[in-house]
Amino acid sequence: MAIKNVKESLIRITLLVIGRKGLGRNWPWSMINTEGYSLPFEESLFTVEQSVLFQILLPAWIMRIVPVHRLQRYWRARVSFLQHLDQMYMNKRTELEATQTSALNGEDQAPTDLLGALVHSQLNSEQEARLQGGDEKVAGLTKSEIIGNMCTAGHETSGHTLGFAVAYLALYPEWQDEVRKEIMAACGAGEPAYKEMRNLPLTLAVCLETLRLRDIVSTVMRKAIVDIEVPYTTWDSTGIVTRRTHLVKKGSFFVIDSAATSLNPHFWGSDSLEFNPRRHLETTPPYVSFSLGARQCLGKRFAEVEMTSFISGIFYQYSIIPVKLHEQETWQEMKARMIDSATEEISFTPGKFGVRLQSRLESE
Ligand code: HEM
Repeated sequence: MAIKNVKESLIRITLLVIGRKGLGRNWPWSMINTEGYSLPFEESLFTVEQSVLFQILLPAWIMRIVPVHRLQRYWRARVSFLQHLDQMYMNKRTELEATQTSALNGEDQAPTDLLGALVHSQLNSEQEARLQGGDEKVAGLTKSEIIGNMCTAGHETSGHTLGFAVAYLALYPEWQDEVRKEIMAACGAGEPAYKEMRNLPLTLAVCLETLRLRDIVSTVMRKAIVDIEVPYTTWDSTGIVTRRTHLVKKGSFFVIDSAATSLNPHFWGSDSLEFNPRRHLETTPPYVSFSLGARQCLGKRFAEVEMTSFISGIFYQYSIIPVKLHEQETWQEMKARMIDSATEEISFTPGKFGVRLQSRLESE
């Protein structure tokens, strides 16, 4: 069995996961192109993502009036997407406000889906702001932060991380064997189940190590609200590390280069550029790939469980072999194509590559 385009397949899988577990929707594997004025939610989300550069660079009115079918479709996708987000948010809010009222009557029910949990915390922030006499409209996350982030931040990031993880494991089969050993020890002969995820630290470490080396959200923007001295380190080609500080003045916008922190030999040792998942089983330096502090990733645990489930589900059953472009393609050339050719788009994106899956269960 072969997967021709790993990146595309994984983006589709993580979209289905966030649809099911985040929004409670079952989407089909294959997307049908509808031609009506309003596109269904999953199609509008998918089309907006496919056209993200156009969506950023072109104002909506230009896409609407230019007589090019593709641009007009992008515009319809954008309008439909925003309408769907609005509708979903309002439905969930109405549902939870009703539950809050019954909670006052002693029938509290915490939401179990991700969207419900976020809107629930939003309602609580607003209530707190009201009680303290503040502005409830600026309390907590905004509507677009809640749903927009969940849709886009919630599947492309984990899809791309899994794409890189599959590439690393295909290129370093010795780690496939290590991971499989752990899965068999934790799950026996049965297929890995949710309750076993916490017993798969090396499998999770493969994902963390992948993210460390290929930091998916590599630039995090911040604004300084006070003057602040930011410590940082530099190092030269001989490995000599120098500690420095930089004064960031109040009001400045700055970008945290988390990829540089993740590769810094001062923190991660002289083998910081090597793929070694086992390092995450020891005490590690602060891990920044999900950001840190009050605005760190809300979906961190969700992503960790999702990625561990995927890796354990595949490698319990199969070993993976990279598909060469031609017979003479060397390991170095494959690595350059599968990992080093990554591009910086909305998030760091793996190159195009395919893999072959070989069943391990049949050969045992
Ligand atoms: C490997 C997967 C993921 C990575 C590497 C990642 C990384 C990040 C990072 C670095 C941030 C902070 C951005 C900033 O500070 O400006 C962030 C924020 C966020 N992420 Fe993730 N993320 C992942 C998966 C997810 C998933 C699966 C969800 C939802 C289910 C999610 C939801 C969010 C949300 C809602 C925020 C905004 C939090 C806020 O604004 O306070 N992320 N993510």
